[in-house]
Amino acid sequence: MMPIVWWVALLLLAVQFALWKLRAGTFLWTLASWFSIYLFLHFGFTVPVPQSVISLYLGITTLATVAYVTSDRERLRNFTAPLVRLCIEPGRRPVLYGVAVLLPALAAFGTWRSMNVPLEAPAFGRTIHPAPPDSITVHDKPFNLITLENPYRKLEKSDPAAFARHLANGKRVFYQNCVYCHGDAMRGDGMYAHGLNPIPTNFAEGGTLALLQESFLFWRVSKGGPGLPEEGGPWDTAMPAWESFLTEDEMWDVILFLYDYTDQRPRAREVKE
Ligand code: HEC
Repeated sequence: MMPIVWWVALLLLAVQFALWKLRAGTFLWTLASWFSIYLFLHFGFTVPVPQSVISLYLGITTLATVAYVTSDRERLRNFTAPLVRLCIEPGRRPVLYGVAVLLPALAAFGTWRSMNVPLEAPAFGRTIHPAPPDSITVHDKPFNLITLENPYRKLEKSDPAAFARHLANGKRVFYQNCVYCHGDAMRGDGMYAHGLNPIPTNFAEGGTLALLQESFLFWRVSKGGPGLPEEGGPWDTAMPAWESFLTEDEMWDVILFLYDYTDQRPRAREVKE
């Protein structure tokens, strides 16, 4: 197999040959050459070329093109001739109007596309969960995270009506507090998410809640970003320490709701042999 760079180079040479055969004017020729270099930089290499390098080379190309076109009066006149004809000849009005609409439309599309980037996890998104401490103190009450369970989980079987009340309360807590960042479908795409780095955790995908125990979530919800351990930083996350705003029950209830809404189960505790 020939490397891709040769295919692209061959194609561009073919274009140059065709232009030469067609006796293309200076304008078309210059434009085609500029675009050829652009295409070559973008598609000629299998290894990713950084955008900054492409911009640098295109900048040099543009300067060289301008220098070439303006270095000779005759050439400059040849270059601008089609543009002048486009502007003054009545027969070319439709094309002129087309260009007048197309250029702003292209600029608008470019802006729309650059604004419309999908929200992607940054390099240090929470793919590896931080190690929790063994014990924490919430509202002056000590909790041993190694043995801690969600006190209301057992109601799921023993008292479904009471469990449903806890879920309803958890739902209220979520939509009053968490939705702004974690999103209305818990996909981590709430209205503030765009300004945050790391982005809020996406609970809808299988890789978070199902791998965690409820005691872990209780730690993360109560202590938030400020409660993250020193190691493995930087942990400058926007996740608030909810112990300052929610009661212990509200935190357990919202954890129930996270699992219920996303149809997932907490990770089972390992049984020590
Ligand atoms: C101001 C934005 C914001 C709000 C509001 C917010 N979170 Fe977060 N949350 C984050 C960010 C950002 C992260 C990811 C970084 C991190 O793990 O600290 C996160 C992470 C988490 C995690 C850790 C998940 C993991 O994989 O370790 C849990 C659990 C969580 N949030 C639950 C909640 C709950 C419950 C609420 C509502 C009571 C809430 N969050 C409200 C921003 C927010």
